[in-house]
Amino acid sequence: MRAKIAILISGRGSNMQSIVNACADGTIDAEVGLVASDKADAAGLKWAEQHNIKTAVISAKDYADRSASDKALAEVIDAHGCTHLLLAGYMRILSEQFVTHFIGRALNIHPSLLPKYKGLNTHQRALTAGDTVCGATVHFVSPALDSGPSVIQAQLAIESGDDADSLAAKVLPIEHHIYPTATQWLVSGRLKLQGDVAWLDDQPLQEPIQLT
Ligand code: GRF
Repeated sequence: MRAKIAILISGRGSNMQSIVNACADGTIDAEVGLVASDKADAAGLKWAEQHNIKTAVISAKDYADRSASDKALAEVIDAHGCTHLLLAGYMRILSEQFVTHFIGRALNIHPSLLPKYKGLNTHQRALTAGDTVCGATVHFVSPALDSGPSVIQAQLAIESGDDADSLAAKVLPIEHHIYPTATQWLVSGRLKLQGDVAWLDDQPLQEPIQLT
């Protein structure tokens, strides 16, 4: 059965676009079955609609609590027959129940060299710490934020004169490269989660694969 991917976004959706484009050109052997957002005005939703991709908005304000909104989100993803889930700039914390439903089938992209700088403002935190490198990580989604086993990282040098905006601009193309790569590994069955260890080609990953 061909994989069908659901992508969760909250904003611009450039990573979502990189996944859609990689499906279209055959880099990823899957189709995007749904783009869903917690924000009705997420720019990426419009782009997805223009590309004839099904979209959904599950807004927290329409539900009593996180458990109810996450249940609705899981139901809409399942109703579209999606086999895999990608978080791509999705800014809501997901409940443990939701994550458990998709465990081993869900990846996230994070703009830091995890385990450094989980959460927000990653580039500024790297600058403040005096780091000489920054980058991005694709990891399996687990109940704890930005903490599931890492799969791929790519890094670049921080140069004098860089600020948080320049780093974000330089890291983004890296994200657009490593996320489709990890996604193809997952949907093709090369990448698996066993317990809390990522396996690639039947080997446990002690460290994330470093791509340049
Ligand atoms: C990316 O930097 C991603 O790593 C982070 O949020 C940003 C989303 O950007 N989680 P976009 O919406 O994919 O353009």
